[in-house]
Amino acid sequence: MFVLPDTMESNLMMKDNGVIGDMSSQKLKDARIFETEAEKKIKKDERPAFHLSPRAGWMNDPNGFSYYKGKYHLFYQYNPYDTKWGPMYWGHAVSTDLLHWEYLPAALAPDAPYDCRGCFSGSTVELADGRQLLMYTGVVWEDKESEEAREIQTQCLAIGDGVEYEKYADNPVLDAASLPAGGSRYDFRDPKMWRKKDGTYACVAANRGENGRGRILLFSSPDGLNWRYEKVLFANDGRFGTMWECPDFFELDGKGVFLISPMEMLPREMEYHNGNGTICVTGNYDEDANMFTEETDQAIDYGIEFYAPQTILAPDGRRIMIGWMQNWDTLIYSREQKWFGQMSIPRELSLRDGRLYQRPVRELEAFQSDPVEYHDVPVSGLVQLDGISGRMIDMELVIRPADQETLYQKFAVRFAQDEMYHTAFSFRPSESVLRVDRKFSGSRKAIIHQRRCRVNSKDGRLKLRLILDRFSVEAFINDGEQVMTATFYTPQEADGISFFADGKVLLDVVKYDIMI
Ligand code: FRU
Repeated sequence: MFVLPDTMESNLMMKDNGVIGDMSSQKLKDARIFETEAEKKIKKDERPAFHLSPRAGWMNDPNGFSYYKGKYHLFYQYNPYDTKWGPMYWGHAVSTDLLHWEYLPAALAPDAPYDCRGCFSGSTVELADGRQLLMYTGVVWEDKESEEAREIQTQCLAIGDGVEYEKYADNPVLDAASLPAGGSRYDFRDPKMWRKKDGTYACVAANRGENGRGRILLFSSPDGLNWRYEKVLFANDGRFGTMWECPDFFELDGKGVFLISPMEMLPREMEYHNGNGTICVTGNYDEDANMFTEETDQAIDYGIEFYAPQTILAPDGRRIMIGWMQNWDTLIYSREQKWFGQMSIPRELSLRDGRLYQRPVRELEAFQSDPVEYHDVPVSGLVQLDGISGRMIDMELVIRPADQETLYQKFAVRFAQDEMYHTAFSFRPSESVLRVDRKFSGSRKAIIHQRRCRVNSKDGRLKLRLILDRFSVEAFINDGEQVMTATFYTPQEADGISFFADGKVLLDVVKYDIMI
């Protein structure tokens, strides 16, 4: 049972933006009762099959992605009561294969004096004694009577057994006093912890500096409970948006890698077209000197919806990333929808020549069924192939010019298609540009429906692996050298797939249904 520390009981009547506050743990109990009932009203086939969606209501960032007591744990930013963002709880789910998720009761509610405006994003580590430690951003309203009063962000802890978590009596453990000169206490969030080889703990968190830009602070702790500021590990020099969110930092194939979600990015040629986007910065990390030297940067996902990713080191050594399959600027609500927000498919990461490669977790292969294969199909104009359809599929396409002398103008694959709807990827080899377009997917809003990505293509050759799961597509380009992700809420009956070429293309297709 979740028992409140004494200090919290005595603080139950807190001021929450002028309203006398809620009963602490009652808030969590209520949410747990509510989500259990709300879940029953959502049929299984109204959700994605193997991408995690919220148990009820709204989901944003993945939090506390971890492997604990023999299971993968994924927490998430959660408003159980509405399909819109609201006071943040932590939802919770577990999995043994990263594809079947089982909901656990909500883990955190905004029920303490130091987090009554929300339990924002954070992470987990296992403590030396085997308990699981959560660090999250507690949000409160600034204690001043002024028009300019704003929300303040601090870092807080909770400790638990994988289901029940008790907030730490000495919260918050990092606050304005922990910040370097000029650090904003209004923008200080999203701690990502890890355990170091020597058994001590480290953590990176995002903070806005005096210049208004984001930077990543490094903190250290001998025991996971007592934290101290170390240094600014990496700062935004103006190339990557304004404030930064949701940093992750890890070693991959001998390099230091930052994953960061910058807000308000300016596009740079064919990179960073997403406004609120994602970047991967690689470089050299000297752990003894705590020095990061930047080498390369790129978008993590070149599609429309992907944000705030987090990674884990799986027990078998794989670095696996999961992201919120959404962008703050493209919230498409359909009237019928009983939930909002989905996670991406977990993706295995590697580095090759300074570029981040991603592939869907290999666990997916166990659920590939009913293969349909075609080789050397000539495509000129519109082509449909027997057995190639579906909304829960894993399909690889290899395309190349049929005629060595004349390059084709354009190749396109349309899916989630019927007479009324479709979403498409199209490729123009002369520009080496791949475009996703969901204008005709059924959205009634004039939000962004297209995104372009410059891909590596020699002589009109391209390899595309498309993962469809009812409401989304993730395209892994050239064995994961780039990824483009988009969501769509097209009626499920629209399950057609067709191919089109302006010019002459030869096509190989291997398609599996995902039976899960
Ligand atoms: C990113 C973010 C985080 C914050 C959370 C609040 O999407 O804005 O910075 O912790 O969402 O839900």
